[in-house]
Amino acid sequence: MKPSGLILIMLSVFFSAGAFAQPKNIHLSWTGQHETNTSHTMAITWNSKMPNNKMVRYGLKSDQLNNLATALVNAKSGLKGAYIYKAELSNLRDGTTYYYQCGSDLEGWSAVYSFKTAPKIGKRGKYVVGVWGDTQNNKGNLDFEETSKIVQKMAQHKFNLIAHMGDVVENGSVVKSWDAFLNTTQPLNAQIPFMPVTGNHDVVNANQDTSFQKPFPIYYDLFNLPGDYINYSYDYGNIHFVAINSGYAQGAAKVDKLLYEKGSPEYNWLNDDLTKARKNKRIEWIILYAHYPMYAYGVSLVPQWQKNVTPLIDKYSIDLCLTGHRHVYERHTAIKNDQIFKSADKHIYQKPEGTVYITNGSAGGSLQGIGGTDMPSMVFTPSEKMYTYAVMTIENNQLSYEVFNTEGLMIDHFKIIK
Ligand SMILES: [Fe+2]
Repeated sequence: MKPSGLILIMLSVFFSAGAFAQPKNIHLSWTGQHETNTSHTMAITWNSKMPNNKMVRYGLKSDQLNNLATALVNAKSGLKGAYIYKAELSNLRDGTTYYYQCGSDLEGWSAVYSFKTAPKIGKRGKYVVGVWGDTQNNKGNLDFEETSKIVQKMAQHKFNLIAHMGDVVENGSVVKSWDAFLNTTQPLNAQIPFMPVTGNHDVVNANQDTSFQKPFPIYYDLFNLPGDYINYSYDYGNIHFVAINSGYAQGAAKVDKLLYEKGSPEYNWLNDDLTKARKNKRIEWIILYAHYPMYAYGVSLVPQWQKNVTPLIDKYSIDLCLTGHRHVYERHTAIKNDQIFKSADKHIYQKPEGTVYITNGSAGGSLQGIGGTDMPSMVFTPSEKMYTYAVMTIENNQLSYEVFNTEGLMIDHFKIIK
């Protein structure tokens, strides 16, 4: 063999080892046990086959990554020999774009990505939020192929954050599904904070299990979210977001273990959280999201779940309630105390007296027929099955919501004007 051939083989071995060690499944989020500081912090989480690949270098320019942060390493993950790294950058400037990469000199660095910190709490601006749900890898989406198409479409928008309505994967106990999801969504999640709620497919479904309705251990390993990871809130500018775990509501209702019963710890937490949010005069919008819908067509509606949660939604005049579970897009009227408020213009909710309810659960999981139109609160649902995602823009006193299919066609839009 000529020396040049040997060098080529050595180089190819070197680069394949480097590729193997490259950080993967990189995703951003906000975290915090007691307080979630979206203006000055960012959590970066990734996996690698190598145990020493644990630094984030970052800075204000892509070629000057002079700051360093060290990640905590979790080696006991079920990701077949992969190590999970969690770093949190702090003391960041608000409303500022940062560049970063993760890895190490020894085992290689990721590409350079960028993210933007949230503005000061209470500051008005134009904020764009990606909304999707039910990316679960079941029939038709076994390798997240439909989800991947949506990722490509969503990547064309400049989101400040992405809210996921749960059922991230088909079976939360299958570790490789989480691996595949995070790999598929890295183009979005490495640059935009990913803030999910848990759906019934993400949590333990056996009602005798002490972890019933809680995520599988891999969820706590792979993510870095606020509070207990499943019921949490955070502020972005003048918006307060609340994410709540609806567990396995259908199964729980049958064995009297439904979450958010009045007086339960999670109910009291939500009541306190919303009390604080409403007292903060700089917070102008409150958006709550959960997996199980409060108002929906057909079997996806669990009446007792609705009865548990809607009194708090009504009490604190939540502006918008986003959900998933049913693999459709549905938009309802504003509703308060079960009373329906119809708008003169179907696309404008002008100072609505109630909360606007959306089901947005069609980002990959097998499509489930179409929503019914013979429900008094139904305003719009597509007349044929389709995968969708939504772009929500909040600017001052106006919230606009646009829903797109995988061809990029807008299938619905509306505004809430306060
Ligand atoms: Fe679901």
